[in-house]
Amino acid sequence: MTAGNQSKPIGIFDSGLGGLTVFREIVNELPNEDLVYFGDTARVPYGSKSKDTIVHYTDQILSFLKTQEVKAIVVACNTASAYALEELEDRVEVPIVGVVKPGAKVAAKESKNGKIGVIGTKGTIRSGLYQKYLKEYRPGAEVFGKPCPLFVPLVEEGLWDDVLTRTAAARYLKELKEAGVDTLIMGCTHYPLIRPLIREEMGEDVLLVNPAHETAERMKEVLELWELNRDPAVPRSDAPYRFYVSDDPESFRDFASKILTFPLPLPEKIDIEAY
Ligand code: DGL
Repeated sequence: MTAGNQSKPIGIFDSGLGGLTVFREIVNELPNEDLVYFGDTARVPYGSKSKDTIVHYTDQILSFLKTQEVKAIVVACNTASAYALEELEDRVEVPIVGVVKPGAKVAAKESKNGKIGVIGTKGTIRSGLYQKYLKEYRPGAEVFGKPCPLFVPLVEEGLWDDVLTRTAAARYLKELKEAGVDTLIMGCTHYPLIRPLIREEMGEDVLLVNPAHETAERMKEVLELWELNRDPAVPRSDAPYRFYVSDDPESFRDFASKILTFPLPLPEKIDIEAY
């Protein structure tokens, strides 16, 4: 990286709109940075697809972000972080951070009894990456992974505080409660949006880890390490936050208004298959 790179944006991508939970943490943690977000709304969900497919999708998205001249990349999607990051990180010339490692690190550190639960998509849990890092950071940890595939559609339907979601949560989280976990990683972009419901189900004593938050902190460290922080004295670009999707910009903007505190410009639709 050469001088001048500080003013470039950070690229953030997700399978769709859930990654906005990561975007908002980055905005809080790094308010001076310009951001480019890509949501793969044409090909969502990633959570039920194979590793090969996710690696291919991620590869295309990295090519797109290269055209945006980003100075660093955040893989906001847990499934893409779990399946594709280790495969593809050497292919990019800028620092790249996924959500799995930072989430696992803090859970391993904070758990008192070493019993740690992870919830996520089928792909994230099947990949075993959270489990691998948890055991690496905390040898002897007992890790309980549980896929919760219904949470994503329930959240996208806006049923954040609904009997259907509560029933799914009770069913999914029962075995983690019975296992006595004292720490639970919300290993999917959508889950922080139903945090109160997960909290109700798990009880007050269980620590809920939001990898989105830990990832934003990690990105802050990475920018400092690479000396890539944007100089706040340099005037801001006209559009500090730019959004791209692969389908249906209107729905994306509608959903974003439930997550972000500022109105979004209509995202630009791109043909991700062309990358
Ligand atoms: N963004 C995905 C994740 O965090 C959830 C949605 C999907 O399955 O694509 O794993």
